[in-house]
Amino acid sequence: MDDLTTEILPADAFGYARASEIWGQGGLVSFPTETVYGLGADARNDNAVAGIYLAKGRPSFNPLIVHVHSIEAARRYVEWSSESEQLASAFWPGPLTLVLPVKSDTEISSLVTAGLETLAIRVPAHPVAGALLRRFDGPVAAPSANPSGKISPTMAAHVVDGLGGRIDAVIEGGACGVGLESTILGLSETPTLLRPGGLPQEAIEQMLGHRLAERSTHEAISAPGQLLSHYAPGAHVRLNAKTAHEGEVMLGFGPIDGTRNLSKAGDLREAAANLFKYLHELDTMGAQGIAVAPIPRHGLGRAINDRLRRAAAPRH
Ligand code: TXA
Ligand code: MG
Repeated sequence: MDDLTTEILPADAFGYARASEIWGQGGLVSFPTETVYGLGADARNDNAVAGIYLAKGRPSFNPLIVHVHSIEAARRYVEWSSESEQLASAFWPGPLTLVLPVKSDTEISSLVTAGLETLAIRVPAHPVAGALLRRFDGPVAAPSANPSGKISPTMAAHVVDGLGGRIDAVIEGGACGVGLESTILGLSETPTLLRPGGLPQEAIEQMLGHRLAERSTHEAISAPGQLLSHYAPGAHVRLNAKTAHEGEVMLGFGPIDGTRNLSKAGDLREAAANLFKYLHELDTMGAQGIAVAPIPRHGLGRAINDRLRRAAAPRH
């Protein structure tokens, strides 16, 4: 994967057009936001989103934040409420991410939501991010543009150091002002601080007129039952299966075929791109169980196995 020439693009009309073109083709472009540089891909493209995890070497599929250019654009993807309206008009563009129920007919990749029924979304305040998102006019999934486990980049040079040769392009947009990731606020129930960040908690509390509940995103997303609660009423998941038992449907990989096959070619990126979609599809077939073929434990296979183990964990 260290074989791309990473283009350094200028923060001007040419650079935005080129970046949009790369996104349209399923590529990865890093761009500045007011918090940190993001590693962006078209959030509707499963394969492109899988490429984010691959480039970062992320060992697990944490859900990603979707970046849009305006409140109007955000309304295309999430269920809006009077509370989100208030918060967004007060703090967007800015370092605040809202976690809201994702629209049921959404075109957002289930690899972005990691199978959750909520979507994290924000409108970044950096002028380069704004201009680029308006040019592309689509939802851009972007975690911080650093290799997994390394610190977040606040300059284009940091991105090149960490991910050069692994991504298609970086927009050179100078240093990030905030330098700390966005504050994440859960709104699907009572307003809950999921990650402290660039927008102070007090500013949000003052606006809402009450204190926020607190819960770490780690808690919110890492409890197995919670993460895949999407599938909770459904099938039991059995891992490392060679064949399906009675009452099971099979999720294949490589030569072990099934009702769905994550990747006939045994390609882990393709498998990652298909994972949540296929689990969901198999679950809606109403079988008692889903048998899953063994997935290699290297590269993206680590993240796939991590998520499968959570899906297979006992439910409450
Ligand atoms: O400032 C930022 O937010 C930067 C820039 C690039 O925008 N992005 C960023 O993304 O920090 P990332 O992937 O490093 O962090 C995303 C966080 C993770 O902690 C993830 O668990 C949480 O957002 N998250 C995403 N979707 C969620 C959801 N539906 N429910 C709860 N947490 C969610
Ligand atoms: Mg990060």
